[in-house]
Amino acid sequence: MVSRRNILKGIAGVAASIQLPKFALSQTSDGVFELVAGPSRQKLYSNEGVESDLWSYNGSTPGPEIRVKKGERVRIKFVNNLEEPTSVHWHGIRIDNAMDGVSGLTQEPVLPGDSFIYDFVAPDAGTYWYHAHNKSWNQVARGLYGPLIVDEIEPLFDDQHDLTLMIDDWRLAGEGAVDLASLGSLMDWSHAGRLGNWLTVNGQPVPTLKLKRNDVYRLRLINAANARIFEIDPARINARVIGYDGQSLKDAVTLNYAPLMIGPAQRVDLIVTPKNDFTLDEISGDEPFPMINFEVGIESGNESDPVKLVANDLPEPDLENAKTFTLDMTGGAMGGFVEIVYQGEKLKGEAFRTSRQVWAFNGVANLAESPFFDVNQGETVIIETINNTGWVHAMHIHGHHFKILSRSGATVDEGEMWRDTFLIGPEQKTKIAFVADNKGKWLFHCHMLEHAAAGMNTWFNVT
Ligand code: C2O
Ligand code: CU
Repeated sequence: MVSRRNILKGIAGVAASIQLPKFALSQTSDGVFELVAGPSRQKLYSNEGVESDLWSYNGSTPGPEIRVKKGERVRIKFVNNLEEPTSVHWHGIRIDNAMDGVSGLTQEPVLPGDSFIYDFVAPDAGTYWYHAHNKSWNQVARGLYGPLIVDEIEPLFDDQHDLTLMIDDWRLAGEGAVDLASLGSLMDWSHAGRLGNWLTVNGQPVPTLKLKRNDVYRLRLINAANARIFEIDPARINARVIGYDGQSLKDAVTLNYAPLMIGPAQRVDLIVTPKNDFTLDEISGDEPFPMINFEVGIESGNESDPVKLVANDLPEPDLENAKTFTLDMTGGAMGGFVEIVYQGEKLKGEAFRTSRQVWAFNGVANLAESPFFDVNQGETVIIETINNTGWVHAMHIHGHHFKILSRSGATVDEGEMWRDTFLIGPEQKTKIAFVADNKGKWLFHCHMLEHAAAGMNTWFNVT
């Protein structure tokens, strides 16, 4: 893995507030939020350095934190002030299909100057996010994403103790502005995706956040990177895990292994009780990279209640009566661009370069015309995914959370864990199960966004 430290030296380390501006439903008179996509400028490398040309929601990356209560209706008037079509996907929400925001599958893209009303109910409490879903490899890389937090009916933490941390990996060029010239490089598409050389948390380089000693905090980590897998070690900061991908565990867990990998689009919720100043490090490189510093001040003197977790109610897969489908992943560099069919034609030689399709599911790149499978509403689906590529992938299912049944033949002992995205390494096999309880056309793709664009994209139909 490339050490991002080698590329840019020096750390900005300017104390700043990284709380995101929050939109609460109740703050608007008619209950409709306005979310506007448009060009913006932001300093990513240091607070003194050069600005990057980004695209963002409501003028900053990440966009505003949308915060609602479990079961609450969300109405958002989305306005497109970009020069290209886009749409907004509400990642991880078990949503009405027409509101899923996938350009070309669940809606027509919203054209420049046009708007679209997203109107849905958020059924599960937890940590979610929203992002562009048209040419995501380009639009998300430029900054079109933000957090969507669904509070428990009785929120577990107050505002001061509930911290959203959206992590992104940027590829900066020379002076520290985002490298736009390399966007879409075929090298990235056919290898590990667009990896960067700099991290931000809530759009800021190595921010500092002040906490109170001995209070209990919830940290909601969201990976908004195109392709980077972040690695952390919760034990280094005495943190416990309370949820993955928006779904709460029944109890807080102390991990007895490290690193904890957070793949693109995945979320991890932690609780931490600070005693002294600490740093949350990303540990995949040769040396730990500080993502965020926490300054721990005086004790509040308030007694914190023990955290009582409440899991969402998700339909339990019926494994006895399940329908099983197999997904064979192939392609990419160093595994040979073999046997890929795209739009009915077998690709050869130069055709990979012109079509830019270098990955396949069951031999077909961008399985778009017909679904991967059809099932009836309420049926349990088992998908066995086999990674026959030389690369790691982050597989995401829209509209449903699933359980991991096994990984390369071994039973997974992670207990009651629901996810919407799973990582799968080279040569691994992973079996997942879920109840297809939501009608519509749902995407299944790699969330390494270059891989999705270059062929790792399909969908299934629930009728
Ligand atoms: Cu996070 Cu298809 O999306
Ligand atoms: Cu992938």
